[in-house]
Amino acid sequence: MVERVGEQNPGWSAVDAYIVEHLLGDDSALSAALAANAAGGLPDIDVSPAQGRMLHLFARMAGALRILEIGTLGGYSTIELARALPAGGKLISLEIDLHHADVARSNVAKAGLGDCVDIRTGPALDSLQAMIAAREGLFDFVFIDADKQNNPAYIRAALAMSRPGTTIVVDNVIREGGVLDEASGDERIRGTRDLFDAVGAEKRLTATAVQTVGVKKWDGFLIAVVD
Ligand SMILES: C[S@@+](CC[C@H](N)C(=O)[O-])C[C@H]1O[C@@H](n2cnc3c(N)ncnc32)[C@H](O)[C@@H]1O
Repeated sequence: MVERVGEQNPGWSAVDAYIVEHLLGDDSALSAALAANAAGGLPDIDVSPAQGRMLHLFARMAGALRILEIGTLGGYSTIELARALPAGGKLISLEIDLHHADVARSNVAKAGLGDCVDIRTGPALDSLQAMIAAREGLFDFVFIDADKQNNPAYIRAALAMSRPGTTIVVDNVIREGGVLDEASGDERIRGTRDLFDAVGAEKRLTATAVQTVGVKKWDGFLIAVVD
């Protein structure tokens, strides 16, 4: 869950609107997904439209055939990522909340992506351990966007199902600068700081993080490639 406590800069939202108007255009499936999320009472914590399209482009740049997503919500980022798949591609998305998963399955089906998307319910750590034990196969692209305190464990699981060249993206790693608070009592900040420590110490990863502003205020993504 991402709480946005800081000020919203009207310029950030206006620039996001400009980006959407000029580069993204109208997208009935994505608009319908957001409307269904709101109608279903889901929190408004999906990636922004510009960020969703960035994830789509990253997955295409990576040539991803198999995508793993941790944290589905209503499937907004799922739809953007699944649209990056070539024919025969597969996206597995993990979600703990049964209602979120139901809304997401409906949104994904309405977007015409039901055949290539598999939304699995339960705590993501359990689903990941089951996937590793069953040797389900490696992923080309991993998007981590669930409970932030588990991000170090999610990175370890992602690495266990990666090959050299796998791209890993983690959302909400700046947290309006909260990542700098080394004494924070917020387990999401501690999880984020542990994530930076784990990725920084991991010899198999080349990584950076990029700060973002926009309709989702000040936050950012960690981006890594497995060497
Ligand atoms: C920020 S939202 C995901 C947003 C989505 N990626 C998007 O941009 O459209 C985080 C989601 O992770 C789910 N979640 C939280 N803890 C989880 C856990 N332990 N295992 C699986 N999912 C979890 C929440 O229920 C929520 O739906």
